[in-house]
Amino acid sequence: MPASDDIDGKKAVIQRTLKSMRIGIAADHGGFELKECLAANLREAGHAVIDFGAGEWEPSDDYPDFIVPMARAVARGDVERGVAVCGSGVGACVAANKIAGVRACLIHEIFSARQGVEDDDLNVICLGGRVVNADLAWELVSTFLSARFSGADRHRRRLAKVTELEIKE
Ligand code: RB5
Repeated sequence: MPASDDIDGKKAVIQRTLKSMRIGIAADHGGFELKECLAANLREAGHAVIDFGAGEWEPSDDYPDFIVPMARAVARGDVERGVAVCGSGVGACVAANKIAGVRACLIHEIFSARQGVEDDDLNVICLGGRVVNADLAWELVSTFLSARFSGADRHRRRLAKVTELEIKE
């Protein structure tokens, strides 16, 4: 079990390595509590956070009502990246990926949080508020935000094929 000094040190390193960004965040009731935590962490780390709701915990609300406006803001470039949270993260991911230009994925571990951006230009991270705890979620979001698309030819070629689907299908 790491000492709390170690944990604080690790958090400080993560915060220092993050460039300040404009981040959209959204959640339904299943992700509300985690959204509030992540939004506070993001602000503390110096990011501009645009919160697309929910504004309060309402057990009968529906994730598309919050996730889709946030995803549209990512697609338009109004925010650089998005964080989408619902109970499992699944509905948030399905809804966000309906928006052309959004590349969203449900993420549970660090490797994919980084590689999803480097290889696949992931621009929305989806999390399950009933699945990951706040510490892990913050590590995942920090990793996602500090990663950059590599721009390698093979990845651009693959993404061009995905973009073509958005136009044709
Ligand atoms: C809401 O109860 C729950 O279904 C939703 O938050 C999410 O987990 C859907 O994928």
